[in-house]
Amino acid sequence: MHPDLTERILQHLEGVDKVNTIDLATLFGVGHQKIVGALKSIEAHGELVIAETTTGKNLELTDEGQTVMQNGSHEAVVYAAVPLDGILQEELMKISPNAKIGYSKAMSLGWLFLDKSVTPPLVKRKVEKIEDTVKKSLEEISKNQTDLPPHVIKEFKKRKLLQEIIIKSFVLSKGPEFATTLTKLETDLTIDMLASGLWKDLKFKAYNFDALGAAPVRGHLHPLQKVRTEFRQIFLEMGFSEMPTNNYIESSFWNFDALFVPQQHPARDAQDTFFISHPAKSYKFPREYMQRVQEVHSKGGYGSTGYVYDWKLEEAQRNTLRTHTTAVSARMLYKLANQPEGFRPVKYFSIDKVFRNETLDATHLAEFHQVEGVVADVGLTLGDLIGTLYEFFRKLGIEKLEFKPAYNPYTEPSMEIFCFHPGLNKWIEVGNSGVFRPELLLPMGLPENVNVIAWGLSLERPTMIKYGINNIRDLIGPKVDLKMVEEGPICRLDK
Ligand code: PHE
Repeated sequence: MHPDLTERILQHLEGVDKVNTIDLATLFGVGHQKIVGALKSIEAHGELVIAETTTGKNLELTDEGQTVMQNGSHEAVVYAAVPLDGILQEELMKISPNAKIGYSKAMSLGWLFLDKSVTPPLVKRKVEKIEDTVKKSLEEISKNQTDLPPHVIKEFKKRKLLQEIIIKSFVLSKGPEFATTLTKLETDLTIDMLASGLWKDLKFKAYNFDALGAAPVRGHLHPLQKVRTEFRQIFLEMGFSEMPTNNYIESSFWNFDALFVPQQHPARDAQDTFFISHPAKSYKFPREYMQRVQEVHSKGGYGSTGYVYDWKLEEAQRNTLRTHTTAVSARMLYKLANQPEGFRPVKYFSIDKVFRNETLDATHLAEFHQVEGVVADVGLTLGDLIGTLYEFFRKLGIEKLEFKPAYNPYTEPSMEIFCFHPGLNKWIEVGNSGVFRPELLLPMGLPENVNVIAWGLSLERPTMIKYGINNIRDLIGPKVDLKMVEEGPICRLDK
């Protein structure tokens, strides 16, 4: 708001008894809304003015009126289009959609005539010069000089060049507390004011109970957290319980060896895995179990020939940033096999961070979140795995799945999971799965008739699809737009 406007209004009011806010707007050359705004802030300071609402009529140009004001009246436009040696009437009618009205007006005003002495007859100018009074009057009206005779106004309204609008305004007069300046209103009642008694003489600003409150500053959930909540909910609905994944650092033993990944496997290369230097090694493993793992790798057993190589404890001791949460699944299955009450069927899940020493690109970072499901029960088959996957993905809103044979050192058979993405209009890989090998389960001490089915997927991929993010750096890392996090909608995966 104009800072002086309030005082200009008050000063004007000092010299007059009453003034209408519309007249003030014209006088000060500002919009009426500005005057009303200033009036509101005067009113906030007490009863300086009395404002009575009144309604008034104002004349305004219609859209057609505006065009006429700019281009001239229809009759003037038609007149201007007639060349000195005349024009065929039908040609003249083509110059504008309003040519017909303009022509009949121009004829009745005596500006044009139809010369029938020639064949075909031609429309010719009757006068050398015309004055476009319509255009002039409209210009005057738009400048607020509305002293036009009533019959002209009536005609313009009939011609839809003018319209009457009702405007609300205020008639101002001096109030009991009238002054020409505004005293600054206090917004705070301080201890000093109370102690000195100053508060008695001060003017306080009234509370505005209609003011919109400032949005409180609060935290926001990252899209990954929102999608994780949804996944967790799906697992819980299916009767799964969550595995404790609070260890990013894992020994190679649990990350690889327990999962029957041979020590020469390329995944165990520094190129693929981050190894930890402090502490570089882990030393505590269940002794007998570790011996059985060593045996199955190097010599075989349980009906398997093993890998037949020289298994080394030092290699198993090397600490890594875990490359998959399947390391946790291995720990949990070992625990399950060795609990005092013996084996019980279980359904486990986890959603947590894993690390891979990968080449970074638009969709890969060196760390991501893995969503993993594990079911252990007597006599599970590949059919159970496929059925469970359909159930799981159906809850995500995905009905169509395809499976592709794959290879994992720890599962046989193994299947990559694909689903059809209608938005992207193609089949995309959404996960990996399989039935855990006996070389993994039997050394743990699980009963021979127990099978374990499992699957894993990344949390980032569905999150990126759900939130329409193409570059993973827009999802996590220093380049993330916090507004995206703040304004991202909640996630409902099946809707
Ligand atoms: N650990 C696998 C991966 O990293 C996922 C998986 C889990 C595969 C369980 C099969 C069974 O991709």
